[in-house]
Amino acid sequence: MPMVGSTSVFTTAEASARLQQAVHAKAVNFHAMYSSVLGGIVTDPAFMVLPLDDHMVHRGHAVFDTAMIVNGKLYQLDAHLERLLRSAEMARLQLPHTPEQLRQIIIDTAAASRQREASVRYWLSAGPGGFGLAPGECVSSSFYVMIFRAQPEPERSYTEGVKVVTSTVPIKPPFFARVKSTNYLPNALVIMEAKNHGADNGIFIDHRGMVGESSNMNVACVTHNRVLWHPTFDTILTGITVQRVLQLAQRLVEQGDLRAIKVADLPVAEARGC
Ligand SMILES: Cc1ncc(COP(=O)(O)O)c(C=O)c1O
Repeated sequence: MPMVGSTSVFTTAEASARLQQAVHAKAVNFHAMYSSVLGGIVTDPAFMVLPLDDHMVHRGHAVFDTAMIVNGKLYQLDAHLERLLRSAEMARLQLPHTPEQLRQIIIDTAAASRQREASVRYWLSAGPGGFGLAPGECVSSSFYVMIFRAQPEPERSYTEGVKVVTSTVPIKPPFFARVKSTNYLPNALVIMEAKNHGADNGIFIDHRGMVGESSNMNVACVTHNRVLWHPTFDTILTGITVQRVLQLAQRLVEQGDLRAIKVADLPVAEARGC
């Protein structure tokens, strides 16, 4: 194996063998990946890789979304796909395939994974082509799908609830909060800050002292007089889960368990009192 200085230079065969050796223990949770660069699906984690020249990698010019396989079925895939397409439009990304083809690729990758319970994440990117900033250099936009087992929520989250803290990390400006782009640095900092304080997650607060959202989920509260109160969606991501919660909660209003559902600015002081 030739060396340059103290660093190895691999042949194609050696590099392929190295990719196989580099598969870590946690890759048992990675079940299948579709890559438009490969033009198909792989189930060997060694080949679940991206080209470094993809603008998603070096510029963050990409959007994504996550759905779930629950009991062998893709739950609310269409709602998640619609949000991906809205995000793609906001990020001015070209689609590499028609929406119907993208949907079919997601379904095919889920089927190839042979999983009945899993996370389904997919990314649309400006694509590979160089290391500049403007996407004009990209040869084609790219699409990736990953079927994986997410770390399960601890049992105590369901029995005792989760502990959240308000975050000092600046909230994203409304436009960037509403597009689900791959720029999740603020979101990662929110959860890290929360863990440092012994909490499970943190909540973005806007400059007016209103509740925004958590690092990767929406936040609502039920007030003492039984009003389910959620912030408006003008400055945060429109979560598919909470949309469904708001829909189902109508039944609780009809049954008299809730007095009302309110979607309006939610002051932190109000939420703390819930
Ligand atoms: C910032 C942010 N807010 C809210 C959500 C909740 O969205 P959903 O319910 O569609 O998963 C997510 C998760 O995707 C998120 O990343």
